[in-house]
Amino acid sequence: MIASIRTRLPGALLAAVLCAAGIQAALASEESVDQATHAAMSMDAHPKRGASIFANNCAGCHGPQAHGDATRNIPALAGQRFAYLVRQLANFSGGERDSSAMHKVVSSKALQKPQVWVDIAAYLNNAPLISAAQNGAGDHLSLGEGIFHEQCASCHALDARGDDDGFVPSLRSQHYAYLVAQIHGLAAGRRHNVDENLMRFFRSFEDSDIAAVADYLSRLQGPGKDRKKMRGDGTVVD
Ligand code: HEC
Ligand code: HEC
Repeated sequence: MIASIRTRLPGALLAAVLCAAGIQAALASEESVDQATHAAMSMDAHPKRGASIFANNCAGCHGPQAHGDATRNIPALAGQRFAYLVRQLANFSGGERDSSAMHKVVSSKALQKPQVWVDIAAYLNNAPLISAAQNGAGDHLSLGEGIFHEQCASCHALDARGDDDGFVPSLRSQHYAYLVAQIHGLAAGRRHNVDENLMRFFRSFEDSDIAAVADYLSRLQGPGKDRKKMRGDGTVVD
């Protein structure tokens, strides 16, 4: 098919056609990942079932308590946001996020189901948090804190707990090296359905800024505090 087009079209036009086809395929995949995520979010979650699927398929890498493995750049998953976890499993499954390790896992038929993602995510969201994540050298923590407050907190919240309604992850209780690697990965486009502006934004940081902000974050332990609480009289306070 491509060979026959090639005989008829000049190079530049051929490139445009192939590129448009590529963009279309990418959009189709993005759309199907969005659909799978939304289908999953409307299902009833069974955390007990999720716990046993996790023990059998994931604990070997992410650890029996889902605390990750800093030396292998494997993230802690305990306490991560439900919606974000579901979306990442959909992303790996649909090829929208690069990772040969995770692609191998989610390519098994039994793990491609949205029901399985919500069961696992519900278990992980409530799993006890890591007590000490791997940290960086500790040399530039106030720089890291300043960057986080100015540049990141608007999306991830001031205490880095993520957002309550959308797909912005918590950055608490996570290993330093994984955070560094993911910021570089986001800048390099290893997550394909992330907003272009966000990718460009991550590219604007020096390595030393990334190290400082990741080190600061790796020391934020425990659950984030509730930002908004309803008072008895119905008003909402920060
Ligand atoms: C062979 C090792 C391995 C196994 C088994 C594995 N993972 Fe992973 N997982 C990884 C690695 C490595 C990453 C980091 C990927 C990257 O570099 O972006 C990861 C990332 C993730 C993330 C993204 C976390 C985040 O903060 O964005 C989720 C969610 C996840 N895994 C869930 C699972 C679940 C659920 C299972 C079992 C069904 C599982 N993993 C099994 C190695 C593994
Ligand atoms: C405009 C909103 C926005 C801003 C600003 C932002 N982020 Fe994020 N961040 C996101 C979203 C959305 C994701 C999830 C992307 C996805 O779906 O894979 C994310 C993901 C991440 C991850 C991956 C977490 C994981 O578990 O894999 C890290 C690390 C991160 N952001 C750090 C930062 C840092 C550090 C800053 C400031 C320098 C920052 N972000 C600013 C929206 C934002």
